[in-house]
Amino acid sequence: MARTRTPDNPVACYRLAAVDRALKFFQRNFPGTILYSVKTNPDLVVLDELYANGVRSFDVASIAETQLIAERFPDARICYMHPVKSRASIRQTYFEYGVRVYTLDTADELEKIMASTDNANDLTLLVRLSVPNTHSEMNLSEKFGVSFSEAPDLMLQVRKKAKRVGVCFHVGSQCMNPAAYGIAIGMAGDLIKASGVMIDILDVGGGFPSVYANMMPPAMIDYMQEINASFEEIPASGACELWAEPGRALVAEAGSTVARVELRRGDRLYLNDGTHGSLFDAGTPGFVFPVRAVRLRGKLSPKLIPFTFYGPTCDGLDYMKGPFLLPADIHESDYVEIGNTGAYGACLRTRFNGYGVHDAALLKDAPVMTMYGDRAGRGKAKQLRGSTVTPFPRP
Ligand SMILES: Cc1ncc(COP(=O)(O)O)c(C=O)c1O
Repeated sequence: MARTRTPDNPVACYRLAAVDRALKFFQRNFPGTILYSVKTNPDLVVLDELYANGVRSFDVASIAETQLIAERFPDARICYMHPVKSRASIRQTYFEYGVRVYTLDTADELEKIMASTDNANDLTLLVRLSVPNTHSEMNLSEKFGVSFSEAPDLMLQVRKKAKRVGVCFHVGSQCMNPAAYGIAIGMAGDLIKASGVMIDILDVGGGFPSVYANMMPPAMIDYMQEINASFEEIPASGACELWAEPGRALVAEAGSTVARVELRRGDRLYLNDGTHGSLFDAGTPGFVFPVRAVRLRGKLSPKLIPFTFYGPTCDGLDYMKGPFLLPADIHESDYVEIGNTGAYGACLRTRFNGYGVHDAALLKDAPVMTMYGDRAGRGKAKQLRGSTVTPFPRP
């Protein structure tokens, strides 16, 4: 692709077959309803691919995400899973877009939901429980979730108002240990006992990992088995629906970014994409995305050495430590394909300093690294040679 197009802008690439493969894994192995977490990647090609392959429930976090899904997929179920919402957005999502599923982690938010829906009697309300995020790269438990000690009282208040009651949690994004789900589901079971409130839905949230050069998670099937086994242990699990809100694990490896080397200074490569573009997670979060180099004419050295990256903006934080292993003789005008950027990549891009304009391409080959190398969802690295490219129609 880089050789045929020699793009001046970074190129956001999608391998939609990778979306299908990840989704099929979840559909085969997760014994419940899959809500795609729209924030992870709201690009229309990705949403359309998920919908075409059977996803009908979506986790949204804003009025804009609600509008996007409601207009694109009128028959979809939209679940507003942000624990802190404005009164206006609750009202609009309920009355204009037919949303009936909301989450909350405080009594104040419950009051907001009830007042903004004119005390609706058809709501499904999920209490978000704070659970340990110790095995995850991105901690969400400080910001959201009711503590276990305060949760029983909130459950009782919700039970009085809601048609259906659920418990949800998030173990933190890029969770590297399946046991985190077992611990959290166990806490949900204890909450049922402590509150005496039987639940209609247990939602295990997101957090399912992808694979990166510095992070090879356990096989995805281990996460599913842990969830299955722990779910069976909670009171009245037979009458309870099981939901999950995967984001990263469905779309990360379907995306990659092709960036050009604008300058080399020793082991530092200055690229035309960076942390204010589609590589946010390579900055402070320190993700080491898998990479490979492409040279327009001539061969690259087979010897790989570690590099750090700088992005195109003037911000010193536009820095990606790596180490990114690339050919020792890489130089200005070579391209770097940065793999597995499909989650929290393009959607975090800004126009800071006038950058952020991207081209796009659909690719047909395998992702740079995959979680779904076999039926058990075991991670596998695959170094790629060439890519088959089709033009990418922007919606
Ligand atoms: C409520 C909620 N659900 C699901 C997700 C998706 O998480 P992940 O991409 O780790 O699967 C997030 C991510 O922040 C979230 O906040």
